[in-house]
Amino acid sequence: MTELQNKNILLGVTGGIAAYKAVELLRLFKKAGAGVNVLMTDSAQKFVGKTTFEVLSENPVLSDLFFDTESSVKHIELATRADAVIIAPATANTIAKLAHGIADDALSTTLLAVTCPVLICPSMNTDMYQNIRVQRNLDILEMDGWHILDPDSGVLACKTVGAGRLPDPWFIFDRVGAMLVKKDLKDKKILISAGPTVEPLDPVRFISNHSSGKMGYAIARAAEKRGGLVTLVSGPVNIDPPVGVECIDVQTCEEMAMQMLANLDQADIIIKVAAVADYKPIDPKTRKIKKKENENNLSILLTNNPDILEQIGKKKTSDQFLVGFAAETDDLEKNALLKMAKKNLDMIAANIVGSSVSGFKTDTNKVKLFFKDGSSFDIPLMEKDKVADILIDHVIEKME
Ligand code: PMT
Repeated sequence: MTELQNKNILLGVTGGIAAYKAVELLRLFKKAGAGVNVLMTDSAQKFVGKTTFEVLSENPVLSDLFFDTESSVKHIELATRADAVIIAPATANTIAKLAHGIADDALSTTLLAVTCPVLICPSMNTDMYQNIRVQRNLDILEMDGWHILDPDSGVLACKTVGAGRLPDPWFIFDRVGAMLVKKDLKDKKILISAGPTVEPLDPVRFISNHSSGKMGYAIARAAEKRGGLVTLVSGPVNIDPPVGVECIDVQTCEEMAMQMLANLDQADIIIKVAAVADYKPIDPKTRKIKKKENENNLSILLTNNPDILEQIGKKKTSDQFLVGFAAETDDLEKNALLKMAKKNLDMIAANIVGSSVSGFKTDTNKVKLFFKDGSSFDIPLMEKDKVADILIDHVIEKME
């Protein structure tokens, strides 16, 4: 389930070369379980035909107030029912009309009656986009409380290189989801660690673990969508940096410790999901360790890494909420409670690792939350994105 399930989305398409991307955006909304109605300007129909949008949305497209509709107030009905409106691509002409309340076609007239959140996705030639009048109109819409998604930069259809490209449909889709989420972490600063640490043995080998970063990144994404100002300190992973999150890449436990402690004072909530290597080679070599022909064994002496969470637990103030994770193969509750007490945590999220459905690498997780006040909460097996949201619900509840 996503934020868009069962929501009514109004997708406005205006006449830009990127109108074809609105087809993919529509498909993403439908796949997420949203109902979609499409509004098109006359010029949009010069780029993509109405039929494509009608077939994929399973609804008639509204493009003419007088000829398209079975009802003379269809546009009011659509505006009233909408949970979110997205104009993608939005041309300079439509932006100007919307900024000044001009209602001379189906799209601009419908938008005057809309009261739900609106996302405008400008897309045009760079000089047009940077034109003072266009920027002024975008400022007006933003001041009125509408959301503006900056265009991407790159080679445009007119062969100019610069800002003006409509962002990828999945990115717009993600931002629409964020727009609909309750901002219950607004202005809260959240410091999260994710992924593994890698401890070098020599320039080509290292000691690490199976963390993929999925759980920590899911929490970072969820916190950002809920209005949090998120800093993510991450070991090496293969996941795109979450949108709107400040990402700091590290390799070793020492580097992670340095970055977590440097960002600690400003944080309201600290969530330590990273799987930190407890030990590191005592004497990492600067040259590759060579294979010796007549020796079967190689001993590597390891030394303790600092316990970052324990250090944070000692420094944290009473206003800061500290969450740790416990990765266990057995005695989940006993080990988690010991870690919570030893590291001075407000909450610990305990998960069984080494299973095919929870813990490392999996898309799902099964977590039990334990709190300082002695209470606990079971999160059954579900997608890590959903686990992240429930975990944040509990952090907010305990902080109140
Ligand atoms: O990344 P994924 O593939 O999605 O997998 C998710 C996960 C299994 C890594 C995650 O859900 C999880 O359990 N993270 C904690 C892993 C871990 O190191 O657990 P631990 O029980 O060894 O450590 C307890 C806590 O102390 C953790 O919050 C850890 O970040 C912290 N710690 C541990 C050692 C150390 N030297 N410094 C630390 O800060």
